[in-house]
Amino acid sequence: MLSLNVVGAGKLGRTLAALWHENSVFEIAGLFNRSAANAREAQDFIGAGTAVSDLNKLPPAQVWLLAVPDDQIATTAADLAPIIAQHHPLSGKSPILFHCSGALPASVLAASGADLLASAHPVHSFADPKRSFTDLPGSTVALEGNEEVIDVLEPAFTALSCNCIHLSPSQKVLYHTGSVMACNYLTVLMDLSLQVFQAAGIDNKSAMALLEPIVVQTVNNNFALGPTKALTGPLVRGDVATVARQTQALHQLAESSGTTGAGSDTTSGAQAVTLVELYRALGKAALPLAEKAGLSQDARRQLQSIFDES
Ligand SMILES: NC(=O)c1ccc[n+]([C@@H]2O[C@H](COP(=O)([O-])OP(=O)(O)OC[C@H]3O[C@@H](n4cnc5c(N)ncnc54)[C@H](OP(=O)(O)O)[C@@H]3O)[C@@H](O)[C@H]2O)c1
Repeated sequence: MLSLNVVGAGKLGRTLAALWHENSVFEIAGLFNRSAANAREAQDFIGAGTAVSDLNKLPPAQVWLLAVPDDQIATTAADLAPIIAQHHPLSGKSPILFHCSGALPASVLAASGADLLASAHPVHSFADPKRSFTDLPGSTVALEGNEEVIDVLEPAFTALSCNCIHLSPSQKVLYHTGSVMACNYLTVLMDLSLQVFQAAGIDNKSAMALLEPIVVQTVNNNFALGPTKALTGPLVRGDVATVARQTQALHQLAESSGTTGAGSDTTSGAQAVTLVELYRALGKAALPLAEKAGLSQDARRQLQSIFDES
């Protein structure tokens, strides 16, 4: 079994290490976080490995996962260069280094001085390591980089019941942007929706209860029918007056939030302005979809002019 060091054992790092330990894929060796307490927490969660308080104290390992935030990957790889150079004669073979960023290519690890580099991006939301430990199987992992490394990582993720796909470095940024729009922005839309409900006097708990079935149904419809057929509501029906009333209501919310300085409990003036802008921008983006679904040219023009008004 190959040994694995994890640098940055946060949400993703500790989840993958725990799963690989559980499935006897890698022998978990050293765990490093800048906060020693955080590294010890990761060790407890994984149930294996040794938390170290200094990067220099990491043991030699055949595989290194750099699961630090994206902006820290290149500098962490550079910090590891002397350590890896020192370990190299001990292990007798150049170690494998990989990161899990969706947007960055494997080459961002080049400053480590190692040759065997890859990136492996699980298309999964690691919001809570305990949930991800159970939910990761079935997720897709996008692999990119050195073929020798891919030959190690692909079976490692397949052993966790993940499906692997292969990307070129030039695909990564847009591939990741697509994932962010569908996944992270869905969460942002949920939060904005709760703010609008709040402005209508409906508390978060009640709003979540009424939203859960329709949001789940909408997501399911998108996968079963595709976005064109899944789109319902005033835009696709061509209910121009309803859309005008909703735009007006958001405008009034922005104005009242601006004049009181605070607005509703959760909606600041700036946030209320964002709500109007987003409602308009997403409305515009929906028009080609609505037209494909049968919206008339006339209704489309009227809706477009509502969204274009400042
Ligand atoms: N979360 C997701 O849903 C998800 C999904 C797919 C891919 N990814 C990728 O996975 C990677 C990690 O993301 P994450 O969500 O797991 O982040 P995270 O929960 O913030 O974990 C990052 C960990 O790195 C440590 N760290 C930060 N700077 C460091 C440094 N300079 N040296 C050593 N350790 C450092 C942090 O601990 P200390 O502060 O104690 O150092 C933290 O525990 C990113 O590349 C991200 O793009 C994440």
